[in-house]
Amino acid sequence: MAPIVSIRNLTKVYGNGFQALKGVDLEIEEGEILALLGPNGAGKTTLISIVCGLVNPSGGQVLVGGNDVVKDFRKTRAMIGLVPQELTTDQFETVWNTVTFSRGVHGKKADPARIEAVLKDLSLWEKRNNTLRELSGGMKRRVLIAKALAHDPRILFLDEPTAGVDVTLRREMWQVVEKLRQDGVTIILTTHYIEEAEEIADRVGVISGGELLLVEAKAALMKKLGRKELRLELTEPMTALPEALGAYNVSLAENGGALIYEYQGEGEQGRIAMLLGALTAQGIEFRDLSTRQSSLEDIFVELVEKKA
Ligand SMILES: Nc1ncnc2c1ncn2[C@@H]1O[C@H](COP(=O)(O)OP(=O)(O)O)[C@@H](O)[C@H]1O
Ligand SMILES: [Mg+2]
Repeated sequence: MAPIVSIRNLTKVYGNGFQALKGVDLEIEEGEILALLGPNGAGKTTLISIVCGLVNPSGGQVLVGGNDVVKDFRKTRAMIGLVPQELTTDQFETVWNTVTFSRGVHGKKADPARIEAVLKDLSLWEKRNNTLRELSGGMKRRVLIAKALAHDPRILFLDEPTAGVDVTLRREMWQVVEKLRQDGVTIILTTHYIEEAEEIADRVGVISGGELLLVEAKAALMKKLGRKELRLELTEPMTALPEALGAYNVSLAENGGALIYEYQGEGEQGRIAMLLGALTAQGIEFRDLSTRQSSLEDIFVELVEKKA
């Protein structure tokens, strides 16, 4: 199946000469949830803004549903919903009008039944006659999503949807996103919260300094780059590693109070048993043992640091 979004060698140099994107290639499949993960200033908003037709690219090409975002702006924009990073909606307008107006802006016929369905889906129906300024922060976020969905886009971009949002609201947002996915909407979200990408995305792209460093299925990424760590709390601290342990990838931590053994996830059981055997043979005792798997955060930090 052809990707719903195809980005080729995309570059962006802003008017002041700053290069925000340095040749990004990315294909997005219909129906997936892709998280673009990157620190502030990485180029996430720039990338999204180009796909949405709000910022002109300096080079390269973006196709949405096979249409060029510059040449066929109307077509591509109609397929896309955007929940922007900055909240710029008129605070004195009602929920109903805000969402209805947005549908019109995208050139779609008025459809009160559809607006009603969107508002109900987002639990905003009861608030339809309230003005935005009367709503809680969470409700305002929902209105922005409703607004982005008013014209039935096939693709939804969420630019840092949960920055500065509390945990409860974040959960709610993810339920909304999950429901949209079930309806077949393709979702691209940017975040600098790693847990977010870890929790919700099918694929994760890591972007830093205007470059897409990698994009991969979350599970494959964890498997490929994920490391495990076995930690043994020693009964008696050691000053140095016994030579007999030289064959293992172990190190001493916490002033000799713990032994750390690092290994790749798969097929290591045998070696762990040998290591434990070697410890027993040396008369080394431990009082506790734990394992830890490297998270997306570790992987992310490593990638971005390697780049820097
Ligand atoms: N209009 C602009 N003019 C000049 N530089 C810009 C403009 N917009 C963004 N930038 C710069 O481009 C870089 C990427 O910005 P942005 O895409 O907003 O990153 P992110 O969303 O990942 O935080 C930043 O260094 C930012 O300062
Ligand atoms: Mg941004």
